[in-house]
Amino acid sequence: MIRINENYLKLKASYLFSDIAKRVSAYQEANPEKPIIRLGIGDVTEPLPQACQKAFHAAIDDQGTREAFHGYGPEQGYAFLREAIAKNDFQARGANVDASEVFVSDGAKCDSGNIQEIFGDDIKIAVPDPVYPVYVDTNVMAGRTGKNVDGRYQGFVYLDSTPENGYVPSVPEEKVDLIYLCFPNNPTGATATKEQLKAWVDYAKECGAIILFDAAYVAFIRDESLPQSIYEIEGARDVAIEFRSFSKNAGFTGTRCAYTVIPKNLKAQDAAGNEHSVHALWNRRHCTKFNGVSYPVQKAAEAVYSEEGAAEVKALTDFYLENAKIVKAAMQDLGFDCIGGEDSPYIWINAKRPSWEFFDLLLNEAGVVCTPGAGFGTCGEGHIRISAFNSREKIVEAMARIKKALA
Ligand code: MLT
Repeated sequence: MIRINENYLKLKASYLFSDIAKRVSAYQEANPEKPIIRLGIGDVTEPLPQACQKAFHAAIDDQGTREAFHGYGPEQGYAFLREAIAKNDFQARGANVDASEVFVSDGAKCDSGNIQEIFGDDIKIAVPDPVYPVYVDTNVMAGRTGKNVDGRYQGFVYLDSTPENGYVPSVPEEKVDLIYLCFPNNPTGATATKEQLKAWVDYAKECGAIILFDAAYVAFIRDESLPQSIYEIEGARDVAIEFRSFSKNAGFTGTRCAYTVIPKNLKAQDAAGNEHSVHALWNRRHCTKFNGVSYPVQKAAEAVYSEEGAAEVKALTDFYLENAKIVKAAMQDLGFDCIGGEDSPYIWINAKRPSWEFFDLLLNEAGVVCTPGAGFGTCGEGHIRISAFNSREKIVEAMARIKKALA
């Protein structure tokens, strides 16, 4: 009989958010009369900005005419979107990124999960703990780790994010090849300063390593002193890849559009020590495995950069940030230590008990779904993450229910 990729057997039975969804369905089946409020997975609830809707509709009309119809587009994305991205998200902030370095895709989850394919099997990888599970699981699937022992895979270098380091890990003592960083952080909501990112860029240069910088939540940064892109840090073009998404800023979780930036000067070497362009390798992979994001979706994403779209995105992210403020204040009032929720839609809460226990308590007693911190790694044990992505009404009600349940 055909054999399986046995690396999959090292994984936990199901993906964190599928696990939570199963528990929630079981609860709903047993308690059909009790409505639940979902503050678990970071899925947006508010509609697409009007500017995006209009562009989306107009592009669908284009597809209905022979003259304006679009078939296969460029795998890397249409020039109109790549140029808008380079100009508005990078050049406007003094970060040197060219449109040709932008790869438009259908999700930062897919990109941050797939990127590892272009690197060697025997590289040393550093992952934060707690961590967005995609970074870990995709490398486990690829066979770059040993077994999971006590919640940690053998072979990874874990970067502990703790209250002591303000949830921003320092560079490790040892040398690694690939480093996953995410700021504003999922799951903790922590942000990193320019100085902190500079230390990582310098370390990567010293090691000949590459940083995979996940900036999916950057639209929530309000503190102007914080960097919004790793390319705002001197030297980052030589060592970093950045992932961005339209999911959390413009509500594209169900519409699907994101992008990855790979500077053309970024290099990695083969076993013989010859240098190769990482941009060229990713381009090769992208063209082989991906046929581009649909034209209407790219037109809708482009509208994010129009005057109307930018104002709507600001209002949308302000709205979720206000939700985050309400959650954080309510949890703090109840005596919990919290971080995040200021330049981030996530609030990371010290649950003062095992995280799945608190998850069950909030589900069973308040009908509120959160994400147990243990699902993000061993350093997440004893914490939960609450997401600010919901309507104001539900956020306020969820906090009232939690207050009552814990009274
Ligand atoms: C999360 O809740 O961590 C995110 O929604 C996951 C994702 O964006 O894939």
